Amino acid sequence: MWMTAQMGTGSPATKRAPRSSPRRPPTKKGEANPALGRSRPAGDSDILGPAGIGKDLRGIAQRTAALKTRGGAAPLPEGDLVRLFQLLYAARDVDFTHYKPPTIERRIRRRMAAMKVHSLADYVRLLTDSPQELDALYADILIRVTSFFRDPAVFEVLSRDVIPAMLRERSDNEPVRVWVPGCASGEEVYSLAIAFLEASADSYSSPVQIFGTDVSEPAIDRARAGLYPATIAENVSPERLRRFFTTSEDGYRVNRYVRDCCVFARQNLTQDPPFSRLDFISCRNVMIYLGPVLQRRVMNIFHYALREAGYLLLGSSETIGNFGDLFRASDRKTRLYQKSASPQRQAVPYIGNTQPPARREKTGMVQEQGSIPNLFREADNVLLARISPAGVLINEQMEILQFRGRTGPFLELAPGTASLNLLKMARQGLLADLRIAIHSAHKNDTPARRDGIHLRGDGNPAITASVEVLPFTGPAKERFYLVLFHEQPAVAIEAKSKKKRGSAAAEPPPSRPVERLKRELDATREYLQSIIEEQETMNEELRSASQETQSSNEELQSTNEELETAKEELQSSNEELTTLNEELENRHEQLGRANNDLLNILTSVDFPVVMLDSGLRIRRFNPGAQRTLNLVAADIGRSIRDLKMTLVLDQLEELITGVIDRLEACELEVQDRAGRWYLLRIRPYKTMENRVEGVVLVLIDINDVKRLVGSR
Ligand SMILES: C[S@@+](CC[C@H](N)C(=O)[O-])C[C@H]1O[C@@H](n2cnc3c(N)ncnc32)[C@H](O)[C@@H]1O
Repeated sequence: MWMTAQMGTGSPATKRAPRSSPRRPPTKKGEANPALGRSRPAGDSDILGPAGIGKDLRGIAQRTAALKTRGGAAPLPEGDLVRLFQLLYAARDVDFTHYKPPTIERRIRRRMAAMKVHSLADYVRLLTDSPQELDALYADILIRVTSFFRDPAVFEVLSRDVIPAMLRERSDNEPVRVWVPGCASGEEVYSLAIAFLEASADSYSSPVQIFGTDVSEPAIDRARAGLYPATIAENVSPERLRRFFTTSEDGYRVNRYVRDCCVFARQNLTQDPPFSRLDFISCRNVMIYLGPVLQRRVMNIFHYALREAGYLLLGSSETIGNFGDLFRASDRKTRLYQKSASPQRQAVPYIGNTQPPARREKTGMVQEQGSIPNLFREADNVLLARISPAGVLINEQMEILQFRGRTGPFLELAPGTASLNLLKMARQGLLADLRIAIHSAHKNDTPARRDGIHLRGDGNPAITASVEVLPFTGPAKERFYLVLFHEQPAVAIEAKSKKKRGSAAAEPPPSRPVERLKRELDATREYLQSIIEEQETMNEELRSASQETQSSNEELQSTNEELETAKEELQSSNEELTTLNEELENRHEQLGRANNDLLNILTSVDFPVVMLDSGLRIRRFNPGAQRTLNLVAADIGRSIRDLKMTLVLDQLEELITGVIDRLEACELEVQDRAGRWYLLRIRPYKTMENRVEGVVLVLIDINDVKRLVGSR
């Protein structure tokens, strides 16, 4: 178990007990595992030729596409996925259930395609039998793409502003404590260490202690070794390479005093206990792989682990999202945040992919395409349905667009700047009721009416009137209102008031000023109440709009993260291809060297040597054979049966097939057509795998010996 106690000692972290190395699937050399097909497990050095690689890559791409099409229609079966996660958990102690499903599924599909397995159930069976494939899948899921000084602009801000401030604030020689969870092979940790060392004026005390952790053991081993290929020169300046690295045969090794600032350990960020009292956490490009449940857990862990106002650095496509009460932005562009003081935080539910509520379409009385005259015609139509009283047509801004009939008793020009605003033109006594009626028509989208309005105008006789507001929709979906004024006949009013007086004798006559003021006050109160209600509704709408924005924001964020993940996946495939390519180049070089050696050996032996394949075709011969047997370059590939040999030997073919069948060399003395004696040696041609693929013919000139013996 990874222990908190080993942190902060400054000494290199103790290694975890190594896991027993996974067993290979029980297959014989050269034999394919039926479950695995002809595939190459990770780390195997089964090298294909360029054409073979091309064919294999095409196959993998086609199978991945096929799996995707199937997967696109139906996600991977839940039950098998759970089983797969259980296998990974049992073997590696990491639960991937709450990682982002698209990334995980893509990685699984990729492995399935590589292993030529078509269903997840089969793949789970394969994982059960093959710990090696389980390892390969685990390594594939943990995308370990990283580099030195990744996102240089971020390191510029750190070196210029953040690190100097942290160093200034530390108390006497106490090192700044930094944690880099998900540090992969350590490049980020060493980059930070270098940035701190560069910013530190005091070269005697270590200015920083950096804890680099990752769930991948091989990554941590590489980080501890601190040995990187020569290609890091693309991201590390020559000056830094000179100052902080030592050149070695295998690339660059991080210097001891930089490594001394760094402690590496295997740690599962989502399960194991965190560090504490940290000044800085750099967790870049890890959160993009985690689902909301784990993101929430990790954010709370970071909040706990940091000191007050400690810094949190995230990757370029990561943000604190919903955790604005835990952290505040310090530099939004570089994704640098600072811990906020003790929040009262509730668990925040993840707001998923919610569709914004469909906007309610208001139904207008009339819908028509056309211009203002059409609009007027429309207003006419509405009016004709009535008794054509006096009135005005207004828009939503209360501006009068058209006067209809005699509106003088109800409206008058207001002093001051010329205005056609209906509310400004309303005669004394009309305003409160008019406002309520318009407001109600606007709010409910239905006609509204107010009766018993007592109007008094300067010099005009007092009248009692009603106002009616009819809403309707214009050609461009804008809202209009037809405001109609009805003068109530004096007789009707008198009758009404008499009736009223009969039922409520205590009521004062309507003409009395107190009564009028009371009525106006009531109307104003009613209007205010409706305004308050409307305000509340508006607040509610604003709140829900804000939630919608937030959820769209999160969707965008997650799309962004998806893109970043896909980019990293591509980068990791690219790295794999580069490694494969390097390996191929090495093989190519070795082959070239072996070929040169062979050519030199064959040229330097005087006696003729000919190599035949199992079909008795000439594969190679040396200059001695060219001279003695009259062979030319064009004879390569031709059968020995078709050649006019200089040797007098009828049963050569039978002899060769006998050697191939019995796997035994044979020797015999033969003569050429000129009567010269040779010792012919026929040996089986064996490959490194001990397979027989033809024969080697060697002719040794024994003419002199033969003549000497003959002359005795
Ligand atoms: C893409 S790398 C990021 C490397 C580095 N932080 C950078 O930005 O260059 C993601 C790393 O997160 C690690 N990782 C994934 N899940 C983890 C977990 N639960 N705990 C710790 N590390 C994890 C992976 O092993 C991998 O090395």
